[in-house]
Amino acid sequence: MRLRYLYTLCLVFFTAGFVSAQNIRKTESFNAGWKFFLGDDSVANAIKYDDSHWRKLDLPHDWSIEGKFDSKNPSTQAEGGLPAGIGWYRKNFLIPASSKAKTILIDFDGVFHNSEVWINGHYLGKRPNGYISFRYDLTPYLQFGTQQNVIAVRVDNSDQPNSRWYTGSGIYRNVWLTTVNKIHLPQWSSFITTPQVDHQNAEISIRTVLPGSINSGFKLKASVLDDQVKVVGSVITPITDTVIQQSIRLSNPQLWSVKHPYLYKVKLQLIAGNRVIDDYTTTTGIRYFNFDADKGFSLNGEPMKILGVCLHHDQGALGTAVNTRAIERQLQILKDMGCNAIRTSHNPPAPELLDLCDKMGLLVMDEAFDMWKKKKSKHDYHEDWDEWHVKDLQDQVLRDRNHPSIFAWSIGNEIREQFDSTGVSIGRELVNIVKQLDNTRPVTSALSDADPKKNFIYQSGALDLVGLNYHQEVYADFQKNYPGQKFIGTENMSALATRGHYDMPSDSIRRWPKDGKTPLKDGNADFTVSSYDNVSAYWGSTHEETWKIIKKHDFLSGLFVWTGFDYIGEPTPYLWPARSSYFGIVDLAGFPKDVYYMYQSEWTTKPVLHLLPHWNWKPGQIIDVWAYYNNADEVEAFLNGKSIGVRKKIGDDLHVMWRVKYEPGVLKAVSRRNGKVVMTTQVVTAGEPYKIQLKADRDKISADGKDLSYITVSVLDKNNVPVPDANQLVKFKVSGQGILKGVDNGSQTDLDPFVSDQHHLFNGLGLAIIRSKSVAGKITVSAIADGLQPARLVIQAKR
Ligand code: GAL
Repeated sequence: MRLRYLYTLCLVFFTAGFVSAQNIRKTESFNAGWKFFLGDDSVANAIKYDDSHWRKLDLPHDWSIEGKFDSKNPSTQAEGGLPAGIGWYRKNFLIPASSKAKTILIDFDGVFHNSEVWINGHYLGKRPNGYISFRYDLTPYLQFGTQQNVIAVRVDNSDQPNSRWYTGSGIYRNVWLTTVNKIHLPQWSSFITTPQVDHQNAEISIRTVLPGSINSGFKLKASVLDDQVKVVGSVITPITDTVIQQSIRLSNPQLWSVKHPYLYKVKLQLIAGNRVIDDYTTTTGIRYFNFDADKGFSLNGEPMKILGVCLHHDQGALGTAVNTRAIERQLQILKDMGCNAIRTSHNPPAPELLDLCDKMGLLVMDEAFDMWKKKKSKHDYHEDWDEWHVKDLQDQVLRDRNHPSIFAWSIGNEIREQFDSTGVSIGRELVNIVKQLDNTRPVTSALSDADPKKNFIYQSGALDLVGLNYHQEVYADFQKNYPGQKFIGTENMSALATRGHYDMPSDSIRRWPKDGKTPLKDGNADFTVSSYDNVSAYWGSTHEETWKIIKKHDFLSGLFVWTGFDYIGEPTPYLWPARSSYFGIVDLAGFPKDVYYMYQSEWTTKPVLHLLPHWNWKPGQIIDVWAYYNNADEVEAFLNGKSIGVRKKIGDDLHVMWRVKYEPGVLKAVSRRNGKVVMTTQVVTAGEPYKIQLKADRDKISADGKDLSYITVSVLDKNNVPVPDANQLVKFKVSGQGILKGVDNGSQTDLDPFVSDQHHLFNGLGLAIIRSKSVAGKITVSAIADGLQPARLVIQAKR
């Protein structure tokens, strides 16, 4: 786990009798002040290179999201039709003379892809994998004091197509510069586990692997800090070997869980004589879990279903450029729905996602690969497999294994080798790599061939958990077909929907056809898909179909819905202008589709009563009205004050329905338990569009140049009723201490750019993403549209 220590201001401090040298370890952001050039130049790695015409920017940066959607782009529709290509980054920087005796390391959290790095003209290396974190030692090539250093990075994403989804291009994750003493704790050297845990006691075990150069004469001190930064246990061990095993016992530990994500920190100090020469802090959580072939999953002894979603890594209009608040918002929306787990499909995630899952209480299935030796796209990672897979998998496990949120590793998604005998040998090899570095978590692979006799990865016998993608029809008989095995639904549903779009009738289920390319005969010419939960890909199911099965059987430990959010790329229908996926429970802009409330009614105890569709139809039209509800035994609906009937969920029903002849007015629903009203809700017919409304998710943000406020744009009629089909072009102006970072509306077919100061609404909603500058003050956002009253909103950026 990463340490993000800020500069220690105090020059010397004492800790338990040991003297700390000044600024023992300093890790600082290296994101600011880069230059960027979109294109190739074979000499741009040289020290003396004129980059004065290059664009100035701060990282993280995704250049593809700045481009135009175009079906002719070589990345293809699979990547949203956005441009890729080659780009260069350069940065000039000074290293103080006082660091001459230090080691200086650069860490890239992720560069998509094929990055090559030079420092002062010296080649440091290449890293093909676009999702892996990597480090270079800059020390031998640096200049100190007033002499400039230059780092140059070439990013080659021109080998298209290379992915089944949108990857983004560039240095899209954070970059860090770490200054340490020559003798220091190596990267990812400590593995922290909790081998014994109950509610009274816990043992924290710290296993540190050191180079031979750190030998007798040195000591390693480990301290456990609670969330108030109070030391609650520590141990000092003389170093006599390259592997140091330490153990700290805590009484009355606070256990980490999804409801109570309590975090401890372990601080490691390397001591020479009476001086601390390095220190390193990593987050940990105390918890235990178990998979049982009959009873499913339990966390800290409590049975619990894994209620997960799969996520790709893009953040909609922001592309893949990592932004902690953007990830946090996404996770908050999902957590409010009752989601308790994330599958990082199908690659190592940004470290910030794991930090947030630790902090917010979300379990993580950390996945490594979407392919092994056999390709899925022409130029994907299969080209790098032989040379890199061991190192990439090792690095992923080493980087991530201290996160309490991670409960399982996945060595691959729908890997082609499941269909031939190489699945046995490679499967075993990969599981072995993981187990050598972490034997505390189960390893799975997301299998798409559900026949246990024919699936070679399953036949390898190496998997701890049988991960099945789809094939919900075999789940009920899982115990019969996979005797003694433990189940996890690694990927489920693949239901399709366009937010706010409704086709009737709603009570027959439709599957998109087998070739995935032709729309259904009766499909919509504009590539919208109905938001009643009744359309799915042929290999999957509607949301309700699979959830009903998983819910029913304890041995089915849980599932991961494909997907939590829509993502750029992989549209189904695969027909231009569809350029992003339809699978999300939430659309690309972060607006929930209706089925979000089905999950919320099932996965939380919060009272839910959600009515769909909107109430603007043609008089006389026959409309299917659905309600999702919980905590009640019936719902009664009223149209303009007249009851249209009482409905109760029967058996395993997850919604109720009325078929009604439309008349404008008010459609109201009342849920009751034992005759008492639990909740009421209503949808109202909107009149003519009259004014714009802006609503910020946060009206106070941090003035750190990173924080975001997400502004929902809607159109109201004269009575403040939202207009459900509003699609006006809204123009934005942002002044003061913020900028407009992106715009979206959640439509899967809108080809207008995300980086713009205007955007159409789609089915009544639009989104403007505002980012703070680094100065405190007001940010004023105004929005205008033809024929509508304008709107204005003020956000405070605070220090
Ligand atoms: C799965 C695959 C996912 C995604 C999904 C779409 O088979 O694992 O990556 O492609 O289908 O339904």
